[in-house]
This record gives sequence, C-alpha cells and structure tokens, in this order.
Amino acid sequence: MPTRTLTRLTLRRPDDWHLHLRDGAMLRGVLPATTADFARALIMPNLVPPVVTAAQAIAYRDRIRAALPRDADFTPLMTLYLTEATEPADVARAHAEGIATAVKLYPAGATTNSNSGVRDFEKVLPVLEEMAEIGMPLCVHGEVTDPEIDIFDREAVFIDRVLKPLRRKVPELRVVMEHVTTQDAVDYVRDSRKGMAATITTHHLIINRNAILAGGIRPHYYCLPVAKRETHRLALVQAAVSGDERFFLGTDSAPHADPAKLQPCGCAGIFSAPVTMACLAEVFEAAGALERLEDFVAVNGARFYGVAPNEGRMTLQKGEAWTPDATVMTGDGPVTVFDPGFALHWRAA
Ligand code: NCD
Ligand code: ZN
Repeated sequence: MPTRTLTRLTLRRPDDWHLHLRDGAMLRGVLPATTADFARALIMPNLVPPVVTAAQAIAYRDRIRAALPRDADFTPLMTLYLTEATEPADVARAHAEGIATAVKLYPAGATTNSNSGVRDFEKVLPVLEEMAEIGMPLCVHGEVTDPEIDIFDREAVFIDRVLKPLRRKVPELRVVMEHVTTQDAVDYVRDSRKGMAATITTHHLIINRNAILAGGIRPHYYCLPVAKRETHRLALVQAAVSGDERFFLGTDSAPHADPAKLQPCGCAGIFSAPVTMACLAEVFEAAGALERLEDFVAVNGARFYGVAPNEGRMTLQKGEAWTPDATVMTGDGPVTVFDPGFALHWRAA
C-alpha cells in the first residue's frame, strides 16, 4: 500500500510493460525520460530491421545499456518480433537464457514497422505451442488489418476473428493484449480465464478520438490503435483504477521526430514517457483511486510476468501546476511530448 497524504504519494518504482526506445540518436535522446521514473521496461522490437533473433535482442539490449544515463537504475526487458519464419527452439532458448521476456505478435501491416509480422496465424502455431509449454508470454497488437474493416472497429473484430480462435487452439498460452482501447477488449480480458491480461497506455486513459479530429487535425494525438469514443476511454479508466490485476501500465511511448509526424502521411505514435507518471497521478486522483496507482504501475504487471515488484520507491509530490517541456531534443530532431490537455500538479520529488 502506498503511503497517502493529500500531497505526497510514495510507491514502488514503476515498470513500463510496453515501450518503444528506437535506436541510435533517438534512443539516446528518449531513454532518460524513461529511466528518470521507471525501473524496468519491456522493449518493443519493431526496429528496422526488426529484433527477431536472440542474437539481435542481445545486441539491442547492449545498445540500450550503453545509452543509459550515468547512475540510471534501469533494466531493459527484451522482446522478440514474431515472424512466420521464427523457430520455436530459438524462442525457447532466448527465454531459458533470460534474453527475451516475451514475444511480440504484429499482424503484418497493422502499425509502424510491422511488415515482417504475421499474415497467416497458422504458421506461427508451433512457436505459440512452445511458448505455452515454457510459460513465455505473447504480447499481441490486437488489430485486424483487413481494409474492409473500419479503423475504429479493428480491435473489436480482432478479438473475434483472431484472438478467440487462437486462444482456443493454444489455451495455455499466456497472452497480453497490448494497448487496449475499447470496452470490448476490457470486457474480453475481464471475462477470460487466467493467463490473459492487458496493458493500457497513458494517452488512452486521457484522450478520446475528438482530440485527434475535432477543431483541426492533430497529428500528435494520432497513434495505433487509434483512440476511440469517450465511452471506451471511460471503460479503460475504470479497468485501470479498479485494481484488477489483469490490467497494468504499458505506456506505448512511441517517439517519432516531429517532421515524421507532421506530413501528409504522418507516423502513428505518441511520446508520453516524460509526463506519464504526472499524468497518471492526475487520472487516478480524479477517479478517487490514488491508492491503487501502485498496483497499476508497479504490481500487477510484475505479477503477470512472474518477477518481483521493484524494491525501490518513488515519491510523487503535489504542488503548483507545472508545465512540462513541449519537446525533447534528440539527435534525430525534436520529439513532441504528449500534452494531456490539463494542468499537471504531481511530479517526482
Ligand atoms: C508504435 C510505433 O511507433 O512504433 N506506434 C503507435 O502508434 N503505437 C507501434 C505500435 O505499438 O503500434
Ligand atoms: Zn507500441
């Protein structure tokens, strides 16, 4: 239980169970925003080329470690990018040797750098069966790519067309439905038996689709899965603040340099790492649930992934409204920081 007074909240150091750190100059530019608050993060493998093999994951982990700010206390937990050519034995070895925490499934074409992802789900069944056997979780980007399906329905349709059949075929597989955006996904996860969980992002707890489209088009609020209508956002907030152990934080902080976002076909992704803890404190406080923030950011995810919650603590202090930097400068250019659209009062003490 966090210590709670009106203006101070001490909790276990949080984990981010879904994070894009990129590589090279971008990695060096954005990593400090995460290590300032988070003790661990599950690192997404959608680089170009993707992180498919254990050897690639080791090399990427080394690059992340080399980019860590001095004195940072941070552990990157690696994922492998599932392709139709992935070998079950490679995945099992990467897991046994502590190199990969999870495997990430991207339906081909669903999001940024997902072209090497899965087209035919039958082809990856042997890998999934092996993972079920060894207890290795699968992280799923849950959207269909069928152009016939409306973009606002792609998550709900994925549950029926892909996730349910897949879980019938491999019932023991532990699955995380990543960055859920709908009441449908919340209900599905809540009604599932053990072994099914979901991450929720910072921004999906705060914006609905109006943020992207009302009063002008706002590329910095465009991400995938795209934010849905308000009823869905409310369902996500309810799930997050409920304390239900199947829901935990995965920020999906996904930096793109501003020129890549601000163009006729802009990239999907919201960079929330610098303000996530401040934003979440506001969300949980508004819901009267500050005492459950620790479960969402530091307990539930660790439990699902079978690791001990962090022993270190972070203290959030409430004070005058403060204005975060609007952008973070990286060697790849400026990256705009998520603007929640309300004042922030909490910050790390
Ligand atoms: C992510 C990215 O930019 O890598 N983008 C996003 O909109 N969330 C990919 C992803 O997680 O879908
Ligand atoms: Zn992501």
